[in-house]
Amino acid sequence: METWTVQKLLNWINDYFVEKGVDAPRLSGELLLSHVLGLSRIELYTNFDHVVEKARLSTLHELVKRCSDQEPVAYLVGRCEFYSLSIKVTPDCLIPRPETELLVERAIELLRSYPAGTASPLICDLCTGSGCIAVAIAKNFPTAEVIATDISDGALAVAAENVEAHGVGDRVELLCGDLFAPIIEGLDQSRFDLIACNPPYVSSSEMEALDKNVKDYEPHSALHAGDDGLDVYRRIAEQIDDFLKPTGVLMLEIGYAQGPAVKDLLEKTNTFAEIKIEKDTSNNDRVVTAKKIKTPDTPPE
Ligand SMILES: C[S@@+](CC[C@H](N)C(=O)[O-])C[C@H]1O[C@@H](n2cnc3c(N)ncnc32)[C@H](O)[C@@H]1O
Repeated sequence: METWTVQKLLNWINDYFVEKGVDAPRLSGELLLSHVLGLSRIELYTNFDHVVEKARLSTLHELVKRCSDQEPVAYLVGRCEFYSLSIKVTPDCLIPRPETELLVERAIELLRSYPAGTASPLICDLCTGSGCIAVAIAKNFPTAEVIATDISDGALAVAAENVEAHGVGDRVELLCGDLFAPIIEGLDQSRFDLIACNPPYVSSSEMEALDKNVKDYEPHSALHAGDDGLDVYRRIAEQIDDFLKPTGVLMLEIGYAQGPAVKDLLEKTNTFAEIKIEKDTSNNDRVVTAKKIKTPDTPPE
């Protein structure tokens, strides 16, 4: 009978995924095999000659088949890595994207810029999904208090597991509802130091053109935001002033070409003294940072 070692399986899956047009074929194969064997990716390489038993082979075959039909690896293995954290995901929530790490990085930089002795900053993570942004901020800034909201009960159940798994349950509160609605109901207003948000921002025409692995598997309510993709930004702009402290900052993830339109929406609120658009490593618009007051590092115009 043919024996299948780790090395032979990785090579076979890679070739099969290349043929089927699966993204990142080698990495996808490693993630599936790690999951099935309960090993880290590094351990696969130190166990290259390990012979995989029959029962695990059939589990692996099933996952490889689903992956070749474009089902996302993160849903198949139930997790993904975000900001060096293992984040649980299910089809109820968007799979956190590496691009979103830029927003987290800027948020943490902002919090670290506060003078020593500043009281615990209060952060709002609107549209939290898996809770990846809220958890990454809370993990990396130990005095941060985070309120995270989402309209999806299913996504919030996943977020609750991530909050628990990363031990930040005492500083991250999850609330269900439409944007700021659960905060209006439960809390005083005008009080966040930072509001961070990665909202749905895909336009109707872009929805049509999405890859199958996104369009057929990820929740459309996490992606689609009206004809031009700006619906949620418009609604945030209408309400933002009430929820930020006078020194507060808004950070939004945006689509690859949405910088000028989102900047325009925010300028019209007359809330912000400074609005900056930042590109990601692929040179796409990615994060808008809007500050209520100008800070000393703002270069003269
Ligand atoms: C693009 S996903 C972002 C999820 C997560 N923050 C991330 O970065 O991976 C957008 C999220 O917004 C939620 N959402 C959509 N419309 C909403 C609304 N009106 N109020 C609150 N959450 C909403 C969706 O359920 C989804 O979880």
